[in-house]
Amino acid sequence: MKLLFLQTFGCQMNQVDSERIARVMGRMDYTLTDCVENADLILLNTCSVRDKAEQKVYSALGRFKEIKQRRADVIIGVGGCVAQQEGEALLKRVPYLDLVFGTHNIHKLPEIVEQVQTLENRPVETAFYRDPSYMEDPEDAVRVGGAKAFVTIMQGCNKVCSFCIVPHVRGREVSRPSEKIVREVEALANHGVVEVMLLGQNVNSYGKRTPGEIGFAELLARVNAIDGIQRIRFTTSHPQDLSPELIEAYAELEKLCEHLHLPVQSGSDSVLSRMRRGYTLDDYLGRLRRLRARCPEVAISTDIIVGFPGETETEFAATLELLEQVKYDEIYSFTYSPRPQTVAAKLYDDDIPDGIKKERLTRLQNLQRGIALCKNRERIGAVEAILVEGRAKLNNGQIMGRTRSNRIVNAFGPEGLVGELLPVRITGATATSLIGEPAGAVAASDLHPEGEFA
Ligand code: SAH
Ligand code: F3S
Repeated sequence: MKLLFLQTFGCQMNQVDSERIARVMGRMDYTLTDCVENADLILLNTCSVRDKAEQKVYSALGRFKEIKQRRADVIIGVGGCVAQQEGEALLKRVPYLDLVFGTHNIHKLPEIVEQVQTLENRPVETAFYRDPSYMEDPEDAVRVGGAKAFVTIMQGCNKVCSFCIVPHVRGREVSRPSEKIVREVEALANHGVVEVMLLGQNVNSYGKRTPGEIGFAELLARVNAIDGIQRIRFTTSHPQDLSPELIEAYAELEKLCEHLHLPVQSGSDSVLSRMRRGYTLDDYLGRLRRLRARCPEVAISTDIIVGFPGETETEFAATLELLEQVKYDEIYSFTYSPRPQTVAAKLYDDDIPDGIKKERLTRLQNLQRGIALCKNRERIGAVEAILVEGRAKLNNGQIMGRTRSNRIVNAFGPEGLVGELLPVRITGATATSLIGEPAGAVAASDLHPEGEFA
């Protein structure tokens, strides 16, 4: 048995890829370890969406240099988005690095690790594939885990948002065959998974480029029909592709949770146009209105970038107004960071000073904190189902879980409930979470309209 130390940076895509790295290497007799000192193989699964994420990778690698000096036989590799972005250049920059594998090459990892021992040159594998089979595990690979599981349904992105490196490091859209996805979710359900999160950079484009394949709304309907699955989530959707069919799915599919992550990026049409997002604010708000009309309970979260090149105070103020108008349940906000190969980095100077970017971010986040607190307080008194995930972050004897609308609830209750759906009465609220108590016998009138406990 050999030991693998695996460090993951970035989004859920990378998390699910890391689970796969562990499975693929598990078949080669590698077991995960938390202790880098004893590891035979050290792998970093990396993120390059912003410069800060990329820098974290180099500082992590810096820490491993000394280990390599002491134990020359330890193998160190970098995968994921920085690997894809940098390729060979990473070997030059990090002389003690043994291998580089790109975002499409996890299935090749055993071979690549072997090449470290057999080849003169250090292996670099960053090819992109159009055939989706590179995303498949061998048929006999069993995924085990808790009550929640991520399932990749597609990779890549065909959009051209001017700030975004993702299409460059994840490639063009490739969808997995729907039968394979359905079979994987069935197998997960048989192993006790009750909640699935379907993953892709732009899930609404699912199947569009594969002749004869079903679309995303139909895929959701098929997953909805799988026994044992109780909750379905997905991420991420591009607003332009929020189709009428998907809006109907929210009205019709009882397992589809009332939450949508719909990145807007900016509240200003001129910034949206420089970002090449392909919609105006009116388009965006129109789609949101139609969704809310069909699914009034739906919680909305979003991504926002502040300090995009040329962003004026007036353009930024439009984003603040948007927050007031939509009243998002949650936002993820970032300061703009120019990325290699992107249109924005080529066309525009990164001309907003850091100080102003940070100041705008703070104003945005302060405004959102107030909005989220108000929205969370409105939940007090309600009884909602949470899927218990584990101990609360504060480790104060509470357990935590999420409501269907993706709100975190901390409540006193036995840890044995992990993986269970538990009705809780909401008793308090902060800007980022709710406080609850197990609701015991629940009156039918208190139940969520979809009747998770019915
Ligand atoms: N559709 C994708 C988006 C990936 S990037 C998905 O799968 O989630 C996630 C978020 O990072 C984007 O929505 C955007 O808000 C932010 N982001 C991307 N590029 C950025 C950049 N160059 N600078 C700052 N933030 C960026
Ligand atoms: Fe990036 Fe835009 Fe695609 S944000 S992942 S290019 S939808």
